[in-house]
Amino acid sequence: MNILQINSSARSWSNGQGSQSTRLANELVERLLAANPGAGRTMRDLTSNPHPALDEATLGALFTPADQRTPEQQARVAQDDALIAELQAADVVVLGVPMINFGVTSQLKNWLDAVARARVTFAYTDKGPVGLLTGKKVYAVLTRGGIHRNQPSDTQVPYLRTMLGFLGMTDVEFVYAEGLAMGPEAETRALDSARAEIARIAVAEGVAA
Ligand SMILES: Cc1cc2nc3c(=O)[nH]c(=O)nc-3n(C[C@H](O)[C@H](O)[C@H](O)COP(=O)(O)O)c2cc1C
Repeated sequence: MNILQINSSARSWSNGQGSQSTRLANELVERLLAANPGAGRTMRDLTSNPHPALDEATLGALFTPADQRTPEQQARVAQDDALIAELQAADVVVLGVPMINFGVTSQLKNWLDAVARARVTFAYTDKGPVGLLTGKKVYAVLTRGGIHRNQPSDTQVPYLRTMLGFLGMTDVEFVYAEGLAMGPEAETRALDSARAEIARIAVAEGVAA
């Protein structure tokens, strides 16, 4: 089993403080590794190494035939290629997903923009779009200051289901840590509930392996 972990918080996790989504994603991956000795882990930390946005120069590079790209264009496309290769190689993807202003972070958006590549990760056919990244399991760990589950304010879950599904990743499970900014008791309840879910997932993955 090859596990790809994506950290997308604006803040890092170190010395027992900082990003809650990275902290919980770390815990989930460590539980998966314990349940599956021999599994491999690839970490893409978009906090310490943010991916560039999809801008005009990037689109120019992507739409220039490979053999006609300038060295700068080749280097820019290679940055996206590296993310795509990591994702193609993964059996399990663990996403750390903070809520920032009701959406995903710009880091996670940039990653999704990079891995959505026509004819590589999705294709249009006469029957419509087809996702090419099939056979993967995705766990998305959602961290929020407030409570949004099953409410119109939760733009993340429908967006991620649509976007990941478009690329062929239809098996997506969400772990919620909500109410993290609603006082110490609510924070403890949120982390306890997320950890219970993580423990359940690790058992299920261990049985499936
Ligand atoms: C700039 C900023 C915007 C935020 N926007 C929201 C929001 O729209 N809704 C919400 O429930 N929490 C919001 N929060 C709280 C975060 O979701 C919460 O701190 C969460 O732990 C972030 O994940 P992280 O710890 O991995 O960075 C915001 C926090 C910051 C710093």
